[in-house]
Amino acid sequence: MTAPLDALPLETLRQRTSTKWSTFGDDVLPLFVAETDFPLAEPIRAALADAVALGDTGYVPPRTGYPAAFASFAARRWGWAVEERRIRTTCDVMMGVAELLRAVAEPGEKVVLTSPVYPPFFDVHAESHTEYVDVPLVDDRLDLAGIERAFADGAVAMLLCNPHNPTGTVHTAEELAELARLAALHDVAIVSDEIHAPLALPGKTAFVPFLTVSDDASRVGYALHSASKAFNLAGLKCAHIVTAADETTAVVDAMPDEVEWRTGIFGITAGIAAYSEGDAWLDALRERLVRNQALLVDLLAEHLPGAVYEPGDAGFLAWVDVRGTGLGERPRDRILAEARVALNPGEAFGAPGFVRINIGTGPEILTEAVRRIGALVRR
Ligand SMILES: Cc1ncc(COP(=O)(O)O)c(C=O)c1O
Repeated sequence: MTAPLDALPLETLRQRTSTKWSTFGDDVLPLFVAETDFPLAEPIRAALADAVALGDTGYVPPRTGYPAAFASFAARRWGWAVEERRIRTTCDVMMGVAELLRAVAEPGEKVVLTSPVYPPFFDVHAESHTEYVDVPLVDDRLDLAGIERAFADGAVAMLLCNPHNPTGTVHTAEELAELARLAALHDVAIVSDEIHAPLALPGKTAFVPFLTVSDDASRVGYALHSASKAFNLAGLKCAHIVTAADETTAVVDAMPDEVEWRTGIFGITAGIAAYSEGDAWLDALRERLVRNQALLVDLLAEHLPGAVYEPGDAGFLAWVDVRGTGLGERPRDRILAEARVALNPGEAFGAPGFVRINIGTGPEILTEAVRRIGALVRR
């Protein structure tokens, strides 16, 4: 059995300068932005240390070991045969999304999203000059009938989040194949953000890459991946777009060179290490996350019995309905102001009354955070 990964102690984490650890004062426990609190995987730490020692800090060259490393990871973890020539890097997933939407949609055209969803899915349209149409999830699953109506109504693209942030839903192969069929029927491009895929959890619905579910999917789909969520590398700026057909590959190849030039070399270095040597660390992290989900269920039952939480299939983000806790209209604001715990507000995802709790941390921090919120509710 895999031993769970241990998080870093609070006093070490407080020395970090990233958003999670430097936005609020030391009296606040930060369980908001999607960074995690673990030591870097050793192969990544070593690869970055070597690069720093060498001053290997220039531009990313046209050919690197990154596509091969991802192709091997995708084959090992998901049985996905990715063609290396159909992988193109960029600086992060959301920039990939913005560029893809610019490429597949004309200004003003409609793009489907499925709330509650990662807030930049709403915001990116200012960059891509598109508009969004929301087809909310129903019981945390895709509303395929609603999505078809939006396609028939003229949407030209859809932003799929698989695994879904914030619910942790992993869409099944059947759901994805039906989505692909509808997209092909209505000539809609599917942009599948699969950044949380390496974090599909043991014993839950297995992650299936969108591009693999059918011929339709391989023709209409663009997948976005990065090692950045699973391995906590967001600041290194590296993600990639994967395609599976000549037409979609041509769309990506036609993007400006700058899209690729903005990739960070440390992101490439770390990504190669993660995808080729990170499996053991990743499995230990997944084990920690399964335990943290169970811990959160227990903590909520003890300290916040009015909260509703269904552990997701993937990731380190817990989506909690706190409407029954008496915390009022803006629970996240009260929790921050009075319990000194920073969470993400449900309203940013399109669901007031919910909060998103980042459980990518150690049991001590998670326990103290929920204890503080419980004390606030009892006050
Ligand atoms: C679903 C999803 N997509 C994209 C991102 C951001 O990725 P990037 O920093 O590569 O743009 C996140 C970050 O949490 C996310 O949850």
